[in-house]
Amino acid sequence: MESLVQQHRVLIAPSLLSSNFARLEEEVRRCERGGADLLHIDVMDGHFVPNITIGIPVVRALRQITDLPLDCHLMITNPDRYIEAFVAAGANAISVHVEVSAHLHRTLQQIRAAGAFAGIVLNPLTPLSYAFEAAEHCDYILLMSVNPGFGGQKFISSVLRRIEQLAAFLEQHQLPVPIEVDGGIDATNAEAVVRAGASILVSGSGIFRGGTVEQNIARLRDAALKALPVV
Ligand code: DX5
Ligand code: ZN
Repeated sequence: MESLVQQHRVLIAPSLLSSNFARLEEEVRRCERGGADLLHIDVMDGHFVPNITIGIPVVRALRQITDLPLDCHLMITNPDRYIEAFVAAGANAISVHVEVSAHLHRTLQQIRAAGAFAGIVLNPLTPLSYAFEAAEHCDYILLMSVNPGFGGQKFISSVLRRIEQLAAFLEQHQLPVPIEVDGGIDATNAEAVVRAGASILVSGSGIFRGGTVEQNIARLRDAALKALPVV
């Protein structure tokens, strides 16, 4: 994950949750044409979050039509049970919520052993200390900027401070772990999110609702890159 970020500096990860599921392949092609770096896949179980979305068969179907890395965000209460199946289906990166993972170290090892990048996810008010403890065992850390469960919610701006704190911690401890941010991100706040220290931006409604996917990705990337020094 770190080497992917190094290569591109900021990664754009469209969240397929906001795409048209009846035309998923076309939506993926639009993401590819627009230069998306990852596809973000929101897996919800109706237990950890009050919504049910997509799962392993959809990941498998996506794997057959695209080479883009598949970034699976598991919002489910028992992720350990499904990790190998997600990787076998084609997941390249799997993140699990610290709020439901009683044996987080083991779960992260399990993800890596299965052959995927291992990430943790923190809800907007979950203490950052979880990320500090887990950082050396993670390939990326996802900070939620909405309460998970639905696309199209408003960005919670106090998360900017959390991104800064986590980025400072990682810098201080020389841990090159990319920070991903998810929820309510669009061209109006992408610069601030990257300036705070994020390098992977998830965006659902900002990419799939209104305008074209290609244009929305370009706008998001332009906004994000304003935060970085020109090299
Ligand atoms: C929320 C999901 C997000 C969401 C992003 O539970 O994890 O990935 O779909 O969508 P927007 O960008 O619309 O907030
Ligand atoms: Zn997500």
